[in-house]
Amino acid sequence: LNKGLKDYYKKYFYMGVAVAPRHLSGPQAELILEQYNSLTPENAMKMGPIHPREDQYFWRDADSIVNFAQHHGLRVRGHNLCWHEQTPDWLFKDSTGKQVTKEVLLKRLHDHIFTVVKRYQGKIYAWDVVNEAIDDDPKNFLRNSLWYQICGEDFIVKAFEYAHEADPKAILFYNDYNTERPEKMERVYKLMKKLVDAKVPVNAVGLQAHWSLEEPSAAELRNTIQKFASLGLKVQITELDISIYPWEKERRALRPGEKGEYTPELEKRQIAKYKEVFEVLRQFKGTVTGVTFWNISDQYTWLDEYPVRGRKNFPLLFDTNLKPKNAYYEVINFK
Ligand code: XIL
Repeated sequence: LNKGLKDYYKKYFYMGVAVAPRHLSGPQAELILEQYNSLTPENAMKMGPIHPREDQYFWRDADSIVNFAQHHGLRVRGHNLCWHEQTPDWLFKDSTGKQVTKEVLLKRLHDHIFTVVKRYQGKIYAWDVVNEAIDDDPKNFLRNSLWYQICGEDFIVKAFEYAHEADPKAILFYNDYNTERPEKMERVYKLMKKLVDAKVPVNAVGLQAHWSLEEPSAAELRNTIQKFASLGLKVQITELDISIYPWEKERRALRPGEKGEYTPELEKRQIAKYKEVFEVLRQFKGTVTGVTFWNISDQYTWLDEYPVRGRKNFPLLFDTNLKPKNAYYEVINFK
């Protein structure tokens, strides 16, 4: 192939992919450079990996991704600055093991955001500032995380303010999953409206897009993008994959006899879903500014381990040999 997704979609949005340092050489690096013009570190910039102790940062992996991107002229989305998962052990406790106060936690958040954002200023054009703050249970608004328990809603506002202060040019995102489900959309919308009305520096919403063959419907996706656009926000698809299994919330063990099988029937439905999704996204030129796949090919996908450990999944546009799947040809086949 001498053209890739990034070329076919030049007039629409950036085409990105989530990567780890081990993908940046050999055939996977070649595929990245052929297909994509944007990178997201899959794990390397999360607070746990990059800031393992209060007085210690681990830059090697994040640096290698940013250096690769700089060298080859790709852009980078930073992921992420404030999340309830993959947090370092020290974060919520003081040296005696007692939970820290709101003041201490916000100071830690401030210092973390300033250090990381400033290091990559001018090299990272967009940041997922707050990740997954809305609760799964429709009865609740915000997730009952330690961030929330210690700081209330303020940690969200502060995270955006600190990030904006650290790099006024960076595009700042709120990022979440299942946002197209009406019950979740309402709550993400409510949060975004609050932030926009309070003039908090948030620019965009990231739809993670860990989707399945069943959802979201084209109408749900369209409606979601429209709602955020009506607040003056941009939208990106930040973590796209289309699982061949139905969505499951809880992690669970592999059941006896259960193994991943990619039947022609499942592939057919996946092709149709990919086609539908990109038809919708192309209708939002100017609002949808980027689409990032969560991993390069079916050779390695985080969904092989999540939510069911050891169940093979086939959610991407390139197969286990890094060759384009039929779904790829559907995605690039448009006028
Ligand atoms: C995932 C990574 O892909 C895995 O390697 C890691 O073990 C767990 O996190 N939502 C997010 C991403 O915002 O950061 C997650 O990435 C997938 C779900």
